[in-house]
Amino acid sequence: MSQRSKRKEEHLALTQMFFNAQKTNSFDQVHLLRPALPESRVDAGSIKSSWFGKELAAPFFINAMTGGSEKSRQINQQLGQIAAKRGLALALGSASILTKEADQLESFYVAREADPDGLLIANVNPLTPPADAARIVSDLKADALQIHLNVAQEIPMPEGDRDFVWLDRMQEISEAVSVPVIVKEVGSGLDPVSLRKLQAAGFSWFDIGGAGGTNFAQIENSRSPYPMNYLNDCGLPTALAALLASPLTDRLIVSGGVRNPLDVFKGLALGASYVGVANHFLHTLLNEGAAGLDEEIARWQEELAAIFALYGQSCLPVKQPYYLDFELMNQFDQLKKF
Ligand code: FNR
Repeated sequence: MSQRSKRKEEHLALTQMFFNAQKTNSFDQVHLLRPALPESRVDAGSIKSSWFGKELAAPFFINAMTGGSEKSRQINQQLGQIAAKRGLALALGSASILTKEADQLESFYVAREADPDGLLIANVNPLTPPADAARIVSDLKADALQIHLNVAQEIPMPEGDRDFVWLDRMQEISEAVSVPVIVKEVGSGLDPVSLRKLQAAGFSWFDIGGAGGTNFAQIENSRSPYPMNYLNDCGLPTALAALLASPLTDRLIVSGGVRNPLDVFKGLALGASYVGVANHFLHTLLNEGAAGLDEEIARWQEELAAIFALYGQSCLPVKQPYYLDFELMNQFDQLKKF
């Protein structure tokens, strides 16, 4: 197994070791004003959505995780089958490995084979040569491309990148591909200063990928002989990142630490058009098998429709009054000038 494939499999194992379904996070600091008289009905149609020209059964999706190893081939195939059956969008893990190991294409393509008509999003790192990014999009028949920002992951990784001058290359990638591009953080949060810089460079879709769920600084520190554990809390919490980003864009994806359908609804209330879920779904798949994840997603869809009725929402976009715990409000007040 190559060094890169080995790292992919280590990430799979370590993200499960650190997964904690009970963990509190910034979604708990967001509260919703519930109408006692919602004048609503539970309706599966209320959560239907469309994105990049494809119809979706729900506004949450399976966010980028894996590809590039034998185990990840099996995972991507199962995720593709479930996404097809349940009408969800699916983002694949970083395909930049294909620039060095073209024979790993199959470990990603199995998802497209399993979900030929679904909304499939490819993912690359920001230094991927533009021609390679374009080939990845075309080989996977991807409907969109995520470019991930993961500085807080690279820094604690002894073999990680040390050059983070990325923007010019990202623009070249964007020009080389014919599909929409989403700039995405991986769990340490997209801040409003970077978001504005990205907007000025022409990017328009953002996944804030906030802190509160999978923590790649912590994961890399656990693999490192020289851990920088003091960086484990450097991330911008998801709810805070969403509050800061939502006035700046209406092409917002909220993700990072989404644990249940109420978190999905809170993400939508904070201004997201779509909500990304990564490790919670992976954990379910690895522990309860494909049938377990399929059931879990069906249940999330039913429960999200019920939550829509509870809060008097009959369709997207969600217009939901919320109020914040003092700590979150205070953090937001300090940062909103940026
Ligand atoms: C990830 N994530 C990720 N993100 C990305 O843009 N490219 C990638 O290749 C990967 N790889 C990856 C592997 C594994 C095993 C996990 C669990 C996650 C990050 C993911 O898309 C998401 O941004 C974070 O995990 C935060 O969301 P959750 O896990 O808290 O829902």
